[in-house]
Amino acid sequence: MGSKFGALRVLVLANVGLLEDSNLGSITNYFPSLKVLDIRNSRLTRVTDDGISFLSQSYERLWRINISDNQSVYDRSLVVLSVNLPCLRLLGEIDCGALTGRGIASLMKNKPDLVSLAPTFMRKETIFCEELVDSFRHAWSLSRQEFSCSYIWDGLLMSVAEANIPLQSLVLSHASGFSFDGIQKIMLKHPGIKVLDLGGIDFLTDEVMGVICRDIRSLTSVDVRHCLNLTKTTLYNLMRQCPFLKHIVMNWTKPRMDDAIETVIVVNSQVRFLGIAGNVSLIDECLKKIGRMCPNLRYLDVGHCGGTAFGVC
Ligand SMILES: *[C@@H]1O[C@H](CO)[C@@H](O)[C@H](O)[C@H]1NC(C)=O
Ligand SMILES: *[C@@H]1O[C@H](CO)[C@@H](O)[C@H](O)[C@H]1NC(C)=O
Ligand SMILES: *[C@@H]1O[C@H](CO)[C@@H](O)[C@H](O)[C@H]1NC(C)=O
Ligand SMILES: *[C@@H]1O[C@H](CO)[C@@H](O)[C@H](O)[C@H]1NC(C)=O
Ligand SMILES: *[C@@H]1O[C@H](CO)[C@@H](O)[C@H](O)[C@H]1NC(C)=O
Repeated sequence: MGSKFGALRVLVLANVGLLEDSNLGSITNYFPSLKVLDIRNSRLTRVTDDGISFLSQSYERLWRINISDNQSVYDRSLVVLSVNLPCLRLLGEIDCGALTGRGIASLMKNKPDLVSLAPTFMRKETIFCEELVDSFRHAWSLSRQEFSCSYIWDGLLMSVAEANIPLQSLVLSHASGFSFDGIQKIMLKHPGIKVLDLGGIDFLTDEVMGVICRDIRSLTSVDVRHCLNLTKTTLYNLMRQCPFLKHIVMNWTKPRMDDAIETVIVVNSQVRFLGIAGNVSLIDECLKKIGRMCPNLRYLDVGHCGGTAFGVC
């Protein structure tokens, strides 16, 4: 492929199986012009910091890299990536078990112009440190922050809130260790957030979601799947309070569609995508209501729900 597509700019090798340092060498040989390299879930168990270092020296113009691996990539790799890649702006899915909060902190200090940072699956023992809290002071471009499946804490979220960054996307799905205070502080300081993913956060209730809907009206996409205490009150609140919302995912929320307080029907002509799949006693009346509320729906997922074909029609 390299001999035919040497000018390739984007190479996605996610989920391809074991990579090792010598494979990284071939990639740099055959594809010298890469700007985006995605080696997520490629089982980098035989890639070492030296491989990543070599990669970083060969790709001066790389601006996005996704790496994930559990064991063998250490903080030193983050340092070489941040020092050797002047154009790097997006660092996605760094769920490398050997990385620490300190490594991420030094990356933030070296690259204050990162626009996207997504450390995932980080455990408390490795992520928790003051340096990380402090490092958000340096950031000024960060518009997407993800901490999926990681331990995080309110102090860390407070520092994201205080940072002078154009935050538009916050992904905390299945993260743990924090409370609503942390999220609310971010909402208050960054009311321009457009994409919010709080999937699997178990302290979310309709009341809490009511506050979130009130604070960030610019939302275009919200994902609260697997939040078991949310009901259709949240769905109606989102429709009513967030006029730009296009994409709603509430799969597996058990929204007990039939027992929330009836509210006046609101029409939200922006909503295009609605996922409310999963063990919901979705009665036909409710489907009818959704049809009236979202006249411009393009995608509706009511899989694993009650209701009848009549309601779906
Ligand atoms: C590797 O990471 C995955 C998530 O990406 C996790 O489910 C798995 O338990 C980890 N394995 C080890 C050995 O740490
Ligand atoms: C990783 O890179 C791909 C490009 O292949 C991108 O679409 C994806 O969103 C990235 N993931 C993260 C978490 O940044
Ligand atoms: C969620 O609902 C369950 C029972 O339905 C309840 O025990 C639990 O306290 C609720 N959680 C919150 C955060 O309200
Ligand atoms: C849940 O939501 C997503 C949207 O991200 C959708 O693609 C998926 O198929 C949905 N359905 C189920 C049953 O989880
Ligand atoms: C969905 O319902 C089935 C059957 O009642 C049950 O076995 C399953 O655990 C439920 N799943 C969830 C995610 O609640």
